[in-house]
Amino acid sequence: MAFLELDQLSAFYGKAQALHNVSLSVASGEIIAIVGANGAGKSTLLDSIMGLTRVTGQIRLEEKSLIGLSAAGIVRSGVGYAPERFNLFPYMTVRDNLLVGAYTARNNVSDNIAVVHKLFPRLQERANQETSTQSGGERQMVSLGRALMTSPRLLLVDEPTIGLAPKVCNEIAVALKRMRDELGATIVITEQNANFAMTLAERLYVLESGVVKAEGTVDELRNDERLTAAYFGH
Ligand SMILES: Nc1ncnc2c1ncn2[C@@H]1O[C@H](COP(=O)(O)OP(=O)(O)O)[C@@H](O)[C@H]1O
Ligand SMILES: [Mg+2]
Repeated sequence: MAFLELDQLSAFYGKAQALHNVSLSVASGEIIAIVGANGAGKSTLLDSIMGLTRVTGQIRLEEKSLIGLSAAGIVRSGVGYAPERFNLFPYMTVRDNLLVGAYTARNNVSDNIAVVHKLFPRLQERANQETSTQSGGERQMVSLGRALMTSPRLLLVDEPTIGLAPKVCNEIAVALKRMRDELGATIVITEQNANFAMTLAERLYVLESGVVKAEGTVDELRNDERLTAAYFGH
C-alpha cells in the first residue's frame, strides 16, 4: 500500500496549467526527490499536496483523500511542510519561529522542541537569536525544525539546499536522514541540485514543465539523459 499517492494530478494558476497529470507513489519510510529545473513545477507540486493550489486528480495519504481539506486540516492529517521562500519570521527569535509551527501541534510542544534541539543542537544554543541574523544553513534548520513541530509522518521539503555551501548541504542531508530513521518520517524533497538529490533520496522523479519525464531509483537514473536535461533545463 502506498503511503502517499498522487493520481493524475494537475494544478492550475488561473488558466495556466503548472502540473500535467502527475502520478507518483511513495512508500512509508521512503525518501524521494522531485528533481527539475527552475519553473518545472516543484514548489507547485508540494503546495498542491498542502491544499494551496487549485487541482484536479487525486491525492491520498494512507488511502484517505486530502482533496478539499484546508491546509490546517492537511497538517492535522500528519503532513509537515518546509517551504522554500518567505517561510521564517525574520525579526522573531529561533524559539518563537519554532513555536509558530506548533499552532496545530497534536503532541506536547516541549517534547517537540526537545526533538528539534536533539537534531539541531545549534538551535538550542541560538534559541534567542533573531533568524534575520542567522546564516542560510541555520535558517534552513529552523525551517525544518518548525515543520517538525506538528510531529508529521510525511515531511515535504522544498529545495533544502538552495544557496547553501556543500558542507552545510551535508549537515542538512544527515538531519533529513535522521528524521526518517529516528522519527519515522516519510520524506519528499524537491531539488534543482541533482547530485544532492542522489546522495539523499532512494528514488527520483524528474519533472519538466509540469510533466513527470522519468522516475526510478538513483542507480537507474544516474546516467539517464532525461535527468541531465532536467538538471540543466532547456
Ligand atoms: N502564484 C503563481 N501564479 C501564477 N503562476 C505561477 C505561480 N507560482 C508558480 N507559477 C508558475 O508555475 C510554474 C511552476 O512554478 P514552480 O512550481 O514555482 O516551479 P519550481 O518550484 O520548479 O521552480 C512556472 O511556470 C511558474 O511561473
Ligand atoms: Mg520552487
